[in-house]
Amino acid sequence: MNYQSVAAAGDLADGEMRAVRVGGKDVLLANVAGEFYAVDGICSHALGYLDEGSLAGYTIHCPLHRGSFDIRTGAPLSAPATVPIRCYPVKIEAAQVCVATE
Ligand code: FES
Repeated sequence: MNYQSVAAAGDLADGEMRAVRVGGKDVLLANVAGEFYAVDGICSHALGYLDEGSLAGYTIHCPLHRGSFDIRTGAPLSAPATVPIRCYPVKIEAAQVCVATE
């Protein structure tokens, strides 16, 4: 698996998220309760940029139509989102958050 460093672990506080590019993909990186999660950065419904939405606990709300997803699994939680977003492996190495998309 090809991990790429995307942020310093200290850069993202609990409850924060940001868009990153990994392996040519738009990825959303988030810190929830000290764990880092990486999922597709673009909504599966109609191309909303999820970093422009909001994060409440483990739920990401899309900014366009308020569809929502579980950041731990990518599962859609509310309409109009019905298709899961992908989740990517994350590891912390030398205080860097590293994400693999392949
Ligand atoms: S684009 Fe995300 S819910 Fe429509």
